[in-house]
Amino acid sequence: MSDNLDPVLLMKQEVGRVAASRVKSDSIVGLGTGSTTAYAIEYLGILLAQGDLKNIVGIPTSFQAEVLAKKYGIPLTTLDAVDHIDLAIDGADEVDPQKNLIKGGGAAHTREKIVDSLADQFIVVVDSGKLVDKLGSSFLLPVEVIPMAISPVMRKLEQLGGKPELRMGIRKAGPVVTDQGNLVIDVKFDSIDDPAALEKTINNIPGVLENGLFVNVADLILVGEVKDNKPFVREF
Ligand code: 5RP
Repeated sequence: MSDNLDPVLLMKQEVGRVAASRVKSDSIVGLGTGSTTAYAIEYLGILLAQGDLKNIVGIPTSFQAEVLAKKYGIPLTTLDAVDHIDLAIDGADEVDPQKNLIKGGGAAHTREKIVDSLADQFIVVVDSGKLVDKLGSSFLLPVEVIPMAISPVMRKLEQLGGKPELRMGIRKAGPVVTDQGNLVIDVKFDSIDDPAALEKTINNIPGVLENGLFVNVADLILVGEVKDNKPFVREF
């Protein structure tokens, strides 16, 4: 693992490592997306190479996860080839006290929700900055939309009280295009009082593929913290 002294990176690295150490041999593992999960994938590769872990297969939630898994020597499979997932490890952009999440900072929430919700155990890996009292406090809600429906979906989201904006690429001209070839609208809601209801309402808009509210999906939240420049992990 790479050395660094940035506290946020230290937290991400440590929580990724701790989550990976919970994976057992002979298991099917959902591989999440994002910078925190990337450390878990890297550490899974180290455990496999050392022989401390044997016979695991990963199900990637994104092109990023697939690329990382290949880089670190983790064999991959698909949902067509397995009938269950033992454990999924994935990051989050916000976590509320009920363990509900906002995800989709990496525009991968559609595949993440499929894989994470199928897992017997879904472990969320976050640094302490992701914990909020109420979802929507600091992060916009990502909504994946089929391109032809962008305008009507934006109008519907405004009618629901949101302020939608099309996610634009960084170091790429034009909008972000998801792994499925769709676009992402990020929506600011002043207050998300009922995440379960909002998740369903948004997914009911024609043209919406999936939104980043993960309600009652997470089993365990591992939180990376730093004290005196030393990272540690607590269960939330
Ligand atoms: C990707 C996600 C990520 O898990 C989420 O954005 C957290 O990323 P990071 O670990 O880089 O902070 O939902 O769609």
